[in-house]
Amino acid sequence: MKVLVTGGLGYIGSHTCVQLIAAGHQPIVIDNLSNSKLEVLNRVEAISGVRPVFHQGDVRDEAFLAGVFAEYDVQAVIHFAGLKAVGESVAKPLEYYDNNVNGSLVLARAMRSAGVKNIIFSSSATVYGDPQEVPITEDAPTGATTNPYGRSKYMVEECFRDLFAAEDDWSITLLRYFNPVGAHSSGTMGEDPQGIPNNLMPFIAQVAVGRREKLAVFGDDYPTPDGTGVRDYVHVVDLADGHLAALNALTDKAGLHIYNLGTGKGSSVLDMVHAFSAACGHDVAYEVQPRRPGDIAECWASTAKAEQDLGWKAQRDVSQMTVDTWRWQSQNPQGYQE
Ligand SMILES: NC(=O)c1ccc[n+]([C@@H]2O[C@H](COP(=O)([O-])OP(=O)(O)OC[C@H]3O[C@@H](n4cnc5c(N)ncnc54)[C@H](O)[C@@H]3O)[C@@H](O)[C@H]2O)c1
Repeated sequence: MKVLVTGGLGYIGSHTCVQLIAAGHQPIVIDNLSNSKLEVLNRVEAISGVRPVFHQGDVRDEAFLAGVFAEYDVQAVIHFAGLKAVGESVAKPLEYYDNNVNGSLVLARAMRSAGVKNIIFSSSATVYGDPQEVPITEDAPTGATTNPYGRSKYMVEECFRDLFAAEDDWSITLLRYFNPVGAHSSGTMGEDPQGIPNNLMPFIAQVAVGRREKLAVFGDDYPTPDGTGVRDYVHVVDLADGHLAALNALTDKAGLHIYNLGTGKGSSVLDMVHAFSAACGHDVAYEVQPRRPGDIAECWASTAKAEQDLGWKAQRDVSQMTVDTWRWQSQNPQGYQE
């Protein structure tokens, strides 16, 4: 089927395009290249043997979207496009709400005009805020997030909830990702943050490859087994497969569906540092610093609902995540080059 993939040249979008093509679907990619490079298209083509259709443009541009829907017989949309840096969102709330919330509304309006009512949206475990219990199930309370990025995800979820309440012929799937990491096993595609990485794994990888001196570990006095924060890391290719499962299970089945995409297992910051050292064959330097405001102690997913309804379960463990990240980082020390 023809699937419009917004933000399809980004980290998760590019891996999802590869999995879509492998499954016989045709991704139509749009991206404004604010956080990605055209080189990604070459990499997707090299892996898949198919060069996806690509149009450079912005999801907030309704006329641009109308043109894309008019040109292709799109049956479903996977909506990755957005800004994702928590710290930056505190400094630039208007940009985050405009891109993430307004962008999703413009997209939904353009979809309705085009008669396309199947959408999968990239939400985040951040909508759960500081969870009352782990593992976190999909019916846990949401909305108590502490930063504009998290609130933008929560707001888009609420907008889609209200849209479905008003127009029940939509099929809307909200996927709440836990912590996506890893890279394609070829070593040719992976996460390529611009500037200082916001997330743990790319930071560790850049220390390991010599681009940065050492990792800052924020807090070692949390109530966790080794005192450092615990998260549910999920391999990006498993995550991409989760989108495929959602697409297969739900397209054209009207409803509002919500799934966690995680592994159901928690790993601490130091677990990840040690796993990465094993993958790259040398120590990764780190230094403990005070806790950061807003960080929570631990968080991992209940995966039962996705497994039961979508038949999806993450296959790759932490060792695979670090081995694949290291292959990508060591083969592309400066990320994608154009
Ligand atoms: N990576 C994570 O840790 C994580 C966790 C939870 C949720 N998410 C969400 O998943 C989605 C994809 O994340 P990612 O890690 O692949 O991020 P990414 O930045 O690598 O990819 C997003 C892509 O969207 C593009 N883009 C941004 N704004 C756009 C706009 N207005 N119009 C068109 N294109 C635009 C960027 O150029 C980029 O290629 C995001 O919505 C993100 O918030 C990511």
